[in-house]
Amino acid sequence: MTTRLAWDDLPTAAKQAVEDRIGQVLKTESTPGGRNSELSETLWTDQGPVFCKGISTDSPISYMHRNEIAVNPFLPAGLAPRLLWHVETVGWLLLGYEHLSGRHADLSSGSEDLPLVAEAVTRIGEVVDLPTSGVQRSMSDRWGHALTRELTSSPFTTSDPWCAANAGLLVELANRAPSYMDGSSLIHSDLNPTNIVVSDRAQVVDWAWWQIGRRGSTRHTWSSASSLRATTRNRQRAGHSSSTASHRPRPRRSPRSLLPRSACGSEGSPAPHRSRTSCSPVGAPPQSVTGVDLDG
Ligand SMILES: Nc1ncnc2c1ncn2[C@@H]1O[C@H](COP(=O)(O)OP(=O)(O)O)[C@@H](O)[C@H]1O
Ligand SMILES: [Mg+2]
Repeated sequence: MTTRLAWDDLPTAAKQAVEDRIGQVLKTESTPGGRNSELSETLWTDQGPVFCKGISTDSPISYMHRNEIAVNPFLPAGLAPRLLWHVETVGWLLLGYEHLSGRHADLSSGSEDLPLVAEAVTRIGEVVDLPTSGVQRSMSDRWGHALTRELTSSPFTTSDPWCAANAGLLVELANRAPSYMDGSSLIHSDLNPTNIVVSDRAQVVDWAWWQIGRRGSTRHTWSSASSLRATTRNRQRAGHSSSTASHRPRPRRSPRSLLPRSACGSEGSPAPHRSRTSCSPVGAPPQSVTGVDLDG
């Protein structure tokens, strides 16, 4: 999670560059949720509110904000807030969005937000007109690269008996996954409740990890996330601690590194090229189906 700064912590020149766009900032309000921006504030001027998020340009994750800038013009009105401007100055990249009023989506079973979220998810899958120049965001390529990269990480030291016993199968399935992701539709890939703002409709924010893949992947990812949450709740009811049962993305850990040593090592274990799978410690869900940073 990135350390958050307030508007007043920004260099004067950065604030001035924003005020050159929107006029004098009269009031600021920090936003709930979010984790990848150093600045995340609603800025009030006499013209009304603007949502502003920002990151220092030398941050290793500033590419995420550039991803958002690239995709925003392709997002249909009503599905996502319009990017009004962005400025890059004195080491800061600042993005100004149309302000949404609403609250984070409630994805719990039976929530009245679910039909609205389902509608938004369907709309995402219908977007096929996407940036083509300068960006390579094929979901299957990125998963393939991520799997390869993760194979070189050191193995996770906690053993999970089920994963160890089924390592071969898991490796097989993980290896097949990228081939199911090929396509030309838009994928959000981080649809968690803090990235969905609900009012009379559900709008999706934070397109930092957008990708291009098979139509329906977002729907499947979202429904997997929902069932993961239901499973998590059931586990919590069954007495598992929230720290182990939480669906929150855990610190990034590789599929291979999540394999118990017995499933990753050389003796009596799958061949290295087959060690591509994701196992989680007992009590934790698999590596988050949302919130997987394929770019890092
Ligand atoms: N256009 C917007 N209008 C109002 N609030 C927004 C808007 N976009 C995002 N937010 C709020 O700010 C939070 C952080 O924004 P987000 O884009 O998710 O940033 P981060 O990269 O920090 O996750 C969101 O969880 C949401 O509550
Ligand atoms: Mg977010």
